[in-house]
Amino acid sequence: MAKGESVIAAIGAVARNGMLGLDGWLPWDIPEELAYFEAKVKGAALVIGRLTYESMEVVPEDSFIVSRQSGLHLKAGCRQVDSVEGALKAALATGKPVYVIGGASIYAAAWPYCRHFYLTRIDAEYAGDALFPESVPLARWRVVKEEVRSYLERKSGQFVDCHFLQYEQPCPHNLPA
Ligand SMILES: NC(=O)c1ccc[n+]([C@@H]2O[C@H](COP(=O)([O-])OP(=O)(O)OC[C@H]3O[C@@H](n4cnc5c(N)ncnc54)[C@H](OP(=O)(O)O)[C@@H]3O)[C@@H](O)[C@H]2O)c1
Repeated sequence: MAKGESVIAAIGAVARNGMLGLDGWLPWDIPEELAYFEAKVKGAALVIGRLTYESMEVVPEDSFIVSRQSGLHLKAGCRQVDSVEGALKAALATGKPVYVIGGASIYAAAWPYCRHFYLTRIDAEYAGDALFPESVPLARWRVVKEEVRSYLERKSGQFVDCHFLQYEQPCPHNLPA
């Protein structure tokens, strides 16, 4: 990595059938997967879509909420930004690591700028209403790390394999000036 280059990462989880959301939350209940996400983004600046933001009980400081609306009332430590690029720039300006945490529309707009994508592939199918965007070309990214762990999914009572993948995009785009 070139000296001074900023690293933006995305993080999320997706089912075998492409689902990532249901009724404004996750289609599954796997506390260990959620704990992995929380540990990964701890202390980072976050870029969050407005709907995902609204689903979160606790939102850490230095969270940048992407919305086209004006005058949203946000929790302390959160700032509204009207574009994904603007949110990424503001997040980078904090000097913290930057994570894009979704949802679908934000992954679709932010992936060109991401060096890494931490994606948990959950090896089961779930009903949902939000799909991981097909426009994110992860098949062309390198998998630099993969770990598989099996956890109990609380809603179904079934054990499910979670593949914790780290993808790397060789040449992320620079943010527009
Ligand atoms: N599985 C996972 O890892 C994961 C991660 C995150 C979220 N989720 C789930 O995904 C679902 C939400 O995803 P979603 O795609 O429906 O919503 P979202 O991306 O969280 O939020 C969509 C909103 O973001 C704003 N927005 C999106 N693109 C924008 C752009 N280019 N410029 C300005 N504003 C923009 C708009 O807000 P305004 O309408 O205010 O203009 C839009 O309505 C939920 O079910 C959530 O639980 C899952």
